Amino acid sequence: MPKAEPVHSPKNRVGDLKIFGGSPAFIEKLHVGRPNVGNSQKFLERVNDILKRKWLTNNGPYVDEFERRVVELTGVKHCIAICNATIALEIAVRALGFNGEVIVPSFTFVATAHALQWQEITPIFCDVDPQTHTIDPNEIEKLITPRTSGIIAVNLWGNSCDITKLEEIAAQRRLKLLFDSAHAFGCSYQGRMIGGFGNAEVFSFHATKFVNTFEGGAIVTNDDDLARATRLMQNFGFTTYDQIACVGTNGKMSEISAAMGLTNLESMDDFIAVNRRHHKQYEEELTGLPGISVLSTDEKEQCNYQYVVLEIDADKTIVTRDELLQILHHENVLARRYFYPGCHRMEPYSSSQLSLPETERISNRVLSLPTGTSITPADISSICGIIRLVVTDGGEISERLRGETR
Ligand SMILES: Cc1ncc(COP(=O)(O)O)c(C=O)c1O
Repeated sequence: MPKAEPVHSPKNRVGDLKIFGGSPAFIEKLHVGRPNVGNSQKFLERVNDILKRKWLTNNGPYVDEFERRVVELTGVKHCIAICNATIALEIAVRALGFNGEVIVPSFTFVATAHALQWQEITPIFCDVDPQTHTIDPNEIEKLITPRTSGIIAVNLWGNSCDITKLEEIAAQRRLKLLFDSAHAFGCSYQGRMIGGFGNAEVFSFHATKFVNTFEGGAIVTNDDDLARATRLMQNFGFTTYDQIACVGTNGKMSEISAAMGLTNLESMDDFIAVNRRHHKQYEEELTGLPGISVLSTDEKEQCNYQYVVLEIDADKTIVTRDELLQILHHENVLARRYFYPGCHRMEPYSSSQLSLPETERISNRVLSLPTGTSITPADISSICGIIRLVVTDGGEISERLRGETR
């Protein structure tokens, strides 16, 4: 598909915006997480290998190699490649013996909560820290009951949680600790790669993640017994050719996914470099705009920079987050309001009427912007130009928008 090119007429005035009758800034839609693809020739060679070998799935040589590469990159003892991160979470939850209640942040992708509810374990939603958007350890203690069996913390956006504090709480209260690190492959905490913390961690290699295997995920752990248990569970509980040891599911990664994963891992540093440059450009171009901030990352740590997250303070921008979203969508910039409105306000979890002030505040302010290898610096300048125009003329724009919908 041809790349989206900015239309040459810049957005100088409110009337230039598509929502008020102008032409869209982009001919084609710009997505937040268009897949990164490494060396496609290398990938096709691997596909040919797979076809020649006729070993398509069931823990073949590419899956094995992919697992070894993840082990090398993260420094964790075991990696079990899985068909996606949701199933990986479900398997880890089961292998860790979670039951009753498990504490999770509400501000996450719904799969974190579903992995529990699917197994009739109750997710107990916790509020998040306003700086990092990750679970607030100070709120966890209040939620622990005799039914609590564990915590799933989420390294959201690749920002790590306060892992030291979480490990302390888990040890003191004898709770299992699982990290949903779907966003945090290639990131570090206090100089150590994400993957080796808590009892286990889960990565996602979904097409929208900066390293993708089409669909894919992994469980990583330093615990030998847990690694053995999860490996059995992802393959129906088979110990040998025809012996079953436990209940299991089909969580296996296919060879073609692993071939894509290996190919993309070879370009991982390039993907991160592009993401980092894009992140910096957004920060620079939006700096000083009243009411707009780009969520920052800890420069002392390694980060994959795969999300560019804006926070919009509508008291200052006048235009609300949702109005900005509407304007950007008209321009073919498909920004996303991840993870609105928080799991505790979504079906099937909304019946409790729970109030989580930070989650509610953040989920009303956040907007994710397009990044990755499909986006160019010129695209980013155009997107930032639209945002600057919208904020600078916020009063006029909101009046027109609200007038038109009145
Ligand atoms: C925080 C989080 N957890 C879990 C998942 C599920 O990942 P997958 O799509 O690989 O099942 C996602 C997907 O985006 C996610 O963002």
